[in-house]
Amino acid sequence: MSTLNILVTGANGQLGSELKYIYNSGNFKTGTSVNVVFTDIDTLDITNTIFLKKFLQDHSFDYIINCAAYTQVDKAETDSENAFIINSKCVKSIIDSIKAYNTRFIHISTDYVFDGENYIPYTEENQTNPQSVYGKSKEEGEKIALTYNNTIVIRTSWLYSSFGNNFAKTIHKYCKEKNELNVVFDQVGTPTYARDLANAIIQIIDQSVNHKNFVPGIYHYSNEGVCSWYDFARAIAIKSYSNCKINPIESKDYPTPVKRPFYSVLNKSKIKSIYNLNIPHWEDSLNEFFKCI
Ligand SMILES: NC(=O)c1ccc[n+]([C@@H]2O[C@H](COP(=O)([O-])OP(=O)(O)OC[C@H]3O[C@@H](n4cnc5c(N)ncnc54)[C@H](OP(=O)(O)O)[C@@H]3O)[C@@H](O)[C@H]2O)c1
Repeated sequence: MSTLNILVTGANGQLGSELKYIYNSGNFKTGTSVNVVFTDIDTLDITNTIFLKKFLQDHSFDYIINCAAYTQVDKAETDSENAFIINSKCVKSIIDSIKAYNTRFIHISTDYVFDGENYIPYTEENQTNPQSVYGKSKEEGEKIALTYNNTIVIRTSWLYSSFGNNFAKTIHKYCKEKNELNVVFDQVGTPTYARDLANAIIQIIDQSVNHKNFVPGIYHYSNEGVCSWYDFARAIAIKSYSNCKINPIESKDYPTPVKRPFYSVLNKSKIKSIYNLNIPHWEDSLNEFFKCI
């Protein structure tokens, strides 16, 4: 059986690090021998079009998992050019370079492509309407990715991991340092433990390799359940055995350069049925996260 060749870009980020962790633990199981090449900006800067093209030509990858992204939501408002280069223009460079090889492309996107004004979970069919530069750059990246017929786009929300910086780690740290914390209760969504998303991606590749089940298109993935950032922070404080008091506040009392979506719950029916995924509840995954920090 031939070895499966997979590239992970942006591999030092949260999701990429989880994929690396799973691979190094010997659990990157696709039913065949697998070689995963992990790159980040130091080894494969996706903005370096000439190098990128040559790199992709020199290795014939069966799959690319594109975790490289510009993810600084507030900074993107004043750094629009770079956000669009990394989140959109580079996606075009990648697909232009792999079209000839039929490489399967798994691209990650975000709930920020929506305006957050829904009141029932967003499906893949819902109209996008990004409200920020970051959201617009990711929406454009999705559209470009989907011009290639070997693309799966996975939109996710509220990503966190023991690797990198994120809300869960910040609250955990503050819980040890502060007596009180104010957290917004009027923004509702679902946290996504990056390790769960990484495992879901591996399962998609496994289904594709062993059951010829690779269905291009957009998919939504987060953990199960719904909560506000306040609920999430409270759960983190409890699991941190902290006496820090978490106060619920309104978004208007916590201004940020980018207005955050009030509602970003994603409907995951499509990914669950097509790829037979069993998605953990966010509270169970938070327990798993606490075993790793
Ligand atoms: N974080 C969230 O809450 C969230 C929510 C929904 C969707 N998403 C999406 O999920 C995906 C993974 O997110 P994440 O949280 O794992 O992101 P992340 O931690 O910010 O990781 C992104 C990685 O890409 C790298 N990168 C940036 N520019 C690059 C370049 N030119 N060439 C190669 N690599 C480059 C970054 O390096 P530097 O750190 O040096 O820039 C970083 O290591 C992204 O597509 C993101 O948009 C994230």
